[in-house]
Amino acid sequence: MSTPILEMRDISKDFDGVHALSHVNFSVAEGEIHALVGENGAGKSTLMKILSGVYPHGSYGGGIHYRGQEARFADTRAAQDSGIAIIHQELNLVSGMTVAENIFLGREPNRFGWVDWRRMRAEARALLDRLGLDFPPETPVSSLSVGQCQMTEIAKALSQKVDLLILDEPTSALTDPEIERLFELLFQLRSQGVTSIYISHKLEEVFRLADTITVLRDGRAVGTWARDETDPRRVVAAMVGRDISDLFPWQTRSAGDPALEVEGLTVTDPSAHRPILDNISFALRAGEILGVAGLMGAGRTELAGSLFGVPPGKLVGKVRVNGAPVEIRHPLDAIRRGIALLTEDRKQSGLLFNLSIAKNITLAALDRVASGPMLNPASERALAADYAGRLTVKSANLANLVGTLSGGNQQKVLLARWLATEPRILILDEPTRGIDVGAKVEIYRLMIELARAGLAILMISSELPEVLGMSDRILVMREGRIAGELSREAASEEEVMHLATGVAKAA
Ligand SMILES: Nc1ncnc2c1ncn2[C@@H]1O[C@H](COP(=O)(O)OP(=O)(O)OP(=O)(O)O)[C@@H](O)[C@H]1O
Ligand SMILES: [Mg+2]
Repeated sequence: MSTPILEMRDISKDFDGVHALSHVNFSVAEGEIHALVGENGAGKSTLMKILSGVYPHGSYGGGIHYRGQEARFADTRAAQDSGIAIIHQELNLVSGMTVAENIFLGREPNRFGWVDWRRMRAEARALLDRLGLDFPPETPVSSLSVGQCQMTEIAKALSQKVDLLILDEPTSALTDPEIERLFELLFQLRSQGVTSIYISHKLEEVFRLADTITVLRDGRAVGTWARDETDPRRVVAAMVGRDISDLFPWQTRSAGDPALEVEGLTVTDPSAHRPILDNISFALRAGEILGVAGLMGAGRTELAGSLFGVPPGKLVGKVRVNGAPVEIRHPLDAIRRGIALLTEDRKQSGLLFNLSIAKNITLAALDRVASGPMLNPASERALAADYAGRLTVKSANLANLVGTLSGGNQQKVLLARWLATEPRILILDEPTRGIDVGAKVEIYRLMIELARAGLAILMISSELPEVLGMSDRILVMREGRIAGELSREAASEEEVMHLATGVAKAA
């Protein structure tokens, strides 16, 4: 192994009593791609925030040795000046500004003291080209997709000299072509001698990219392996502290009456060249888990929104809930009919970051904790504690702000919120995105338990193993239509991809 560019020694960090990190040693060789993996709350982001100056020298135990010298970063700027750039798990762009302004925020190129807009745009354009992004630098970030925002963050990180690039779960919101582009870029950076630290829950990515893999568990480093000396199964075992043999706890169930029937659902937007949703019909039974597969842009998230009262255009078609025709014009109509939707993006349309974990859980179920117009704080706390417990949300205190939770635990809070409304129809859009294997299995078990209790579940997922492993039946969408339906027995990755892409199967 070549010389380390970085050695973090004996790092410890507490958050009011919670040991986020205890005596972690972490060493990274110059020029490698080093993956950092571990369950939700294992301490990955915290370790990287220490390295990048978010938590300054003095706020943690232990020391950082970078390029052979002790580094005592007072802030993120000091780390940046040493060539360390971080792309955070949560997006940090300023929504009122353009892409170019965000990329150069605080470091705008200037000419005689004035911002040199022309140069700024030209440099931004060059960066976007390097990432294969075709939107103009003048685009306001508020009109970008989540994936485009993430790519803009990456452009921002690369806009200055970088020797060590930290990526904290960069791909959770990216489309497949964007992911491929990012991987190419990381390999290219490696060939130029740039070192990367890559955090991901997707082990296929980790095994494709990384030269070395370090596993954190409960705030401790439990091992570091060269990629070629280990395998996904051993890494998972190190992450969760046990062997997971049964990732998908699926079992046969008997389905009941139709809970949700959709007939001829069509959503149009005059500015689009084709309907967003085109004549969608299907039925979902109580106790059933119906998977919805498809490529990015096939209309799956739009279907979820349309069923939840937020269609992305003009909606026609019939919807029946428990056999009765319904008009769902607003999320409140949906909630009243027993429909719950877990959205794919927790930051933009889910969590309220200025509220506590408990409030975020009880938010949609206030009628369960109120007597008349008054909230009953004790029953609110009890309800929150009940669902936090069922979903094993890892937190010291439910009164803490929801933003203090790790990413995966935030996802569990959102799921808890919807389960607290006691829905009969649960729509899950990418339910395990950004969630570690251990928590995934917990969520799968919970889904099975809920389905057995009679809940009808519509599960949208881009992860084929998850769709195949958890669905009783699978709808495959393509370009706003249902391209086909597969029974659990008939479904395979190849069949799903065939329907999703319209490309014929290999002979
Ligand atoms: N600002 C904070 N205040 C209080 N506790 C915190 C804070 N940041 C992190 N923690 C706690 O420290 C622990 C480690 O969190 P961290 O965010 O580093 O985990 P992670 O490995 O990045 O998880 P994930 O995969 O879910 O992103 C968790 O128990 C978390 O709740
Ligand atoms: Mg994290």
